[in-house]
Formats: sequence, C-alpha cells, structure tokens
Amino acid sequence: MRTLQLCAAAGALAWHQAAASSTLPPTTGPYHVGLQKHAVPFLNEADPVWPSNISTSFLVTIYYPTKQKPEAHDQERPYLDPATAALYEDLYNLTAGELSTITSPGLILDADPIDYSSSSLLPPTLFFGPGGGGPPSECYTTLLSDLASHGYTVLAMDHAYEQPFVRYPNGTGVYGLPILYPWTESMALAAQSARVQDAMALLDYLPTLEADTKVQLNQTHVGIFGGSLGGSAAAATLLAAQQQQHNTSSLDKQQSSFRAGINMDGTFFGPLADVGQPFLVLGQEGHGVPSKESLNDATWPAFASVQKTAYWRWVNLKGTLHHDFSDIGYWKELVPAIVERDGRVGPISGERLVEIWRAYMRAFFDLALMGRNTEDQHSLLDEGVDAEWPEKMWEGGGGSLT
Ligand SMILES: *[C@@H]1O[C@H](CO)[C@@H](O)[C@H](O)[C@H]1NC(C)=O
Ligand SMILES: *[C@@H]1O[C@H](CO)[C@@H](O)[C@H](O)[C@H]1NC(C)=O
Ligand SMILES: *[C@@H]1O[C@H](CO)[C@@H](O)[C@H](O)[C@H]1NC(C)=O
Ligand SMILES: *[C@@H]1O[C@H](CO)[C@@H](O)[C@H](O)[C@H]1NC(C)=O
Ligand SMILES: *[C@@H]1O[C@H](CO)[C@@H](O)[C@H](O)[C@H]1NC(C)=O
Repeated sequence: MRTLQLCAAAGALAWHQAAASSTLPPTTGPYHVGLQKHAVPFLNEADPVWPSNISTSFLVTIYYPTKQKPEAHDQERPYLDPATAALYEDLYNLTAGELSTITSPGLILDADPIDYSSSSLLPPTLFFGPGGGGPPSECYTTLLSDLASHGYTVLAMDHAYEQPFVRYPNGTGVYGLPILYPWTESMALAAQSARVQDAMALLDYLPTLEADTKVQLNQTHVGIFGGSLGGSAAAATLLAAQQQQHNTSSLDKQQSSFRAGINMDGTFFGPLADVGQPFLVLGQEGHGVPSKESLNDATWPAFASVQKTAYWRWVNLKGTLHHDFSDIGYWKELVPAIVERDGRVGPISGERLVEIWRAYMRAFFDLALMGRNTEDQHSLLDEGVDAEWPEKMWEGGGGSLT
C-alpha cells in the first residue's frame, strides 16, 4: 500500500496512477468488517422531502464484525457509490476518479456474520445518522467500519431524497436535495422529525432485520449517534424514547433500549431537555464557545445546562472544522485541493484526525454501553489537558455512570 504522502506529492501523475494509491486508513480492531444494505419499509405521510410528502422506506447500511478475510477484489473495490463520488467530484471541481477510486481496506460486501449464539454476549448496537443533506453515511466509513472492527454492529440510516444520493439494495438510485441546498431552521426541524421517526421504527424493526440479514443484533443496549443534523437527531431520539416510555403504563414500562448518544458537531434543533442517558457532544474547535464569535452556537451551552441526571461530556477538538467529522476530513489528505474548495476542514492532519475521532467514539461507547473503564478513556473524556491528546479542549461535563 502506497502512502498518502506519495499521493499528495503526485500532482504530475495521471489521475488514475495517483488515485490507485488512495485508500482510507486501515481499521484498528481485531475483526474484519462486513457490509449489507437493507430497505426498511416505513410509511410517513408527512415527509418533508419525498414526492407528495409521503415516504415509504428508509435505507439501513449495516457495518458488522466478521471473521471472513477480505480478498483482492474486496481490497480493490472503490468504497463510494459511483454516483455519490461523482456528485462530490463535481462539487469540488475534481477530475473524475479522484474520489471514485478510493478504496477501504477490509470492507467485505455481504460477509458472513459472526455466530454468537453459543458463546459470548452480543456487542451493543449503534444507530448512526449522517449530516443533513449529506454527506450520506457511506462518507463516514472511516469511523463506522472502525467501530465494527472492534465488535460493534452499526446501523447507518439514510433518508432518501434528503441525502444527495442513496442507492437501495435492489440497485435503485435516488437523487435528493442538492449538496448546497439552502437549509432553513424549519426544514431542519422537519427533516429531524422524520429521522426520529425512522430511528424509533428501526428499534421496533430489529427482530425482522436480524432475521433477514442473519446479523445478530443486541436489542437492549443501543447507542445512537450522528454527524451534524444526525447528532441533533440522536439527542431528539433519546427524548422521544423517554416520552414514549413515559406514555406507556407503568406495568409495561421497561428501560429504553437507547442507552447512550453522541452529537458530532451538530447544532441542536428543537426543544432541549435532559436526555437522561449518557451523552457526548464532540465539536470543532470553538463550537459553542462565546469567545469564538463565528461559532457562537447558543444551543450547545443550552444543551449542557439542562443535562441533570446522567453522565455527559462536551469536548472540542483543536484544529478541526465541521466537515472533519466525516470522511472529508481524510479526503483532504488524499486530494489536497479539497481543503480550500470545501472550506470546512481544519488544519489537523487527516491521519491524526482519524486517530482522535475514532478514539473518542470508542472511549465513550465502551464506557457508556459496556461499562469498560480504562485510563485512556478518562484521559479523553475527563476534565483537564492531556499530553497524549493535545487537541482535546474540555468544555464541560457532569454526572457519573455509577
Ligand atoms: C412537503 O413538506 C415540506 C416541508 O414540511 C413543505 O414545505 C412542502 O410544502 C410539502 N409539500 C407538499 C406537496 O405537501
Ligand atoms: C447486550 O449488550 C450488553 C452490554 O454489553 C450486555 O450486557 C447484554 O448481555 C447484551 N445482550 C445480549 C443478548 O447478549
Ligand atoms: C427498490 O427498493 C425500493 C425500496 O424498497 C423501492 O421503493 C423501489 O420501488 C425498488 N425498485 C425496484 C425497481 O424494484
Ligand atoms: C406521548 O403522549 C403525548 C401526549 O398524549 C403525545 O403528544 C406524544 O406524541 C406521545 N409521545 C410518544 C413518543 O408516543
Ligand atoms: C468550480 O468551478 C466553477 C466554475 O469555474 C466555480 O464557479 C466554482 O466556484 C468552483 N468550485 C469550487 C468549490 O472551487
């Protein structure tokens, strides 16, 4: 595997030579990663983006641990759908191929799931939601496949017509909002509400999904996280689940399956309240901090101020901008023109970004969902500066897990 430094220096090479060496960073866990797509039937008659405002399904992409080994054709398969890659190549005025040939080592389509029935516990399940209007879930592969390589099963939810492009498992492709769509607050609220309904429906659908895909799913320990609007929707979903639980009679009342959430750099939309479950907000440098005027997002301190009962943490990362919380933060390393043409990726190197971004997601979910408790986790999540993670900017926190 050639290194990305070579790509960066390879401006004079023809694109296909340069691109042939482009690959996402390898996953860090003990498992290889399988990938399956599934269309979940779900009727919503007040959908903000579907034709006639009626949606009939949403798309789930499952990233799951497998013991199957990737073969050459898995290693060489471009990781983005060609239509998605073309949309972003156009957006950035790139040469065709610069994004569409990037590979993701170790990702195996329809790989054999692990059989847990005779042995150990099922690892927790994670629901993921991408940014509003994109990039779609496939552009978070760096993170999602790494979580799966450590044992988590990730169910990434894409809402058709809201994302710039999604491809259903039967091959049907759906173009949605343009990438540069002018989002308003009311549109964001409507899209978030549709996503909350999708997530609640997916929770009920887990037994069917397991039967159809043979991927065994932990249905009692579910974390929910997302980028940008997906992060706000994660918090809104925890609130909706709490409300639903509140509504059911005390006899039927069980603890919600949603037991933890993360918002990656998303402004919160909708009413803020105590989500009642462990929650992490991980943001770009200065997000929600009043001294940084351009990022003076009042919803972040407001969210922090209403968390009362559960463990919560707010950490920003030095050198990052909004799109670093997606694969774009690594594409900038493979295709340096993206730094300027995107304008929302920071000076932190792609390699380092991926390292720290993955470390935060895992530290938090390991702690909140599996009760793992190590020094590394505390150095990332607890107050104070840390020599190993100089990018960490601790902005607040409270509550405890015990
Ligand atoms: C669909 O919903 C959107 C957002 O709520 C609204 O602006 C639009 O007018 C609706 N379209 C139709 C055909 O009802
Ligand atoms: C689901 O995950 C939790 C946390 O790791 C674990 O306690 C539980 O036993 C798992 N469920 C199953 C069915 O293995
Ligand atoms: C493909 O699947 C989607 C989602 O289930 C469905 O809406 C669409 O009609 C299907 N397309 C074809 C050609 O069957
Ligand atoms: C719970 O009940 C309230 C009041 O009846 C209702 O407005 C709300 O939609 C319900 N929430 C859920 C999640 O069922
Ligand atoms: C792409 O090229 C067009 C036409 O030259 C230009 O208007 C646009 O600003 C460029 N986009 C970026 C992101 O550089």
